[in-house]
Amino acid sequence: MQYEAYSSHDGLRETFDAALQEQQNIVLQAGSLQNPARSFAESVCEGLQKQQRQLECRFLYDAKGSELYEKICSQPEYYLTRTETAILQRYAGEISRETGSCHLIELGSGSSVKTDYLISAYQAHYTNVCYTPIDISATALKLAGRAIIAKRPDVQVVGIHGTYNDSFQLLSCTSPAMVVFLGSTLGNFTEEEEHGFWQDISWHMQTGDYLLLGVDLVKDISILEAAYNDAAGVTAAFTKNYFARMNRELGSALDLDHIRHVAFFNSGKSRMEIYLEFTEAQAIHIESLQKTFAVAQGEMLQIEISRKFHLPAVKANLRSYGFEPVKTCTDDKGWFGLILFQKSS
Ligand code: TRP
Repeated sequence: MQYEAYSSHDGLRETFDAALQEQQNIVLQAGSLQNPARSFAESVCEGLQKQQRQLECRFLYDAKGSELYEKICSQPEYYLTRTETAILQRYAGEISRETGSCHLIELGSGSSVKTDYLISAYQAHYTNVCYTPIDISATALKLAGRAIIAKRPDVQVVGIHGTYNDSFQLLSCTSPAMVVFLGSTLGNFTEEEEHGFWQDISWHMQTGDYLLLGVDLVKDISILEAAYNDAAGVTAAFTKNYFARMNRELGSALDLDHIRHVAFFNSGKSRMEIYLEFTEAQAIHIESLQKTFAVAQGEMLQIEISRKFHLPAVKANLRSYGFEPVKTCTDDKGWFGLILFQKSS
């Protein structure tokens, strides 16, 4: 079994295409992540210069963060993963029959545990199943890919260590394909980011290709808020790890005991807002850029938003980008939605 990282020199698309032709199991690294420490520093610096200070959420997912995120997914209050998994388990067979044989490409694949239900259904119906997980955590990508290869030797896995943007150019090589975007990660985009995302992906996808989208739905506030404030404190550890990572990688020298996790539902904007509150004034150093930012006592740095959706609005929105809804699956409580779209034009 070969599934080792490979730095791409020829251009990602050519290397990806060659890996598909040669039926290799391989991880390809996208150019955008070749100097990660510097871009983390720049991102933090930029976010701290904004009026409402914001940190870019993708940096939550280093090796430690990805591990903590997996732990969040199994907390009793965090119903999202459990519910989406149950929907996938129940409908994977129907989805695979609906789309026919296709290349599965997953944005933000993490552990790929949920996706395994899909892979299993495609394997049951079709030969030569190919799976392309894309993730910014190299560790998560390698562990997930190796687990799938070990369990399913007939499935080809070509992982991409990169960002969503890196993957768009690959969509011209994969048709017929189904882009898989689970976990309500869409909710972590602002509306503006979402607009750019659908425009880009729609531009790159071929007519007839599919998109499988998982979205968390609006529900009772207490259920939503509990999901982001689990009693065991795993979510708090996850968001605080952002600052631990800054200490490790940027030399920020922050005292984590005076930083508090805060998460609440903003009804007006239909979204969870997640912050880290400084309970004492502190300075954030970024060694490599020789910058220091003063943070006042009580100041809240926004680390994430998680928008909650209504199914009809999601479908109407996606239609405007050329995605036709072909199948909608939810759980009995109507807490989470999984929508299959087909690219029509
Ligand atoms: N996509 C997940 C969500 O919006 C990510 C997530 C879960 C998250 N818990 C979090 C992000 C806590 C930041 C902080 O549900």
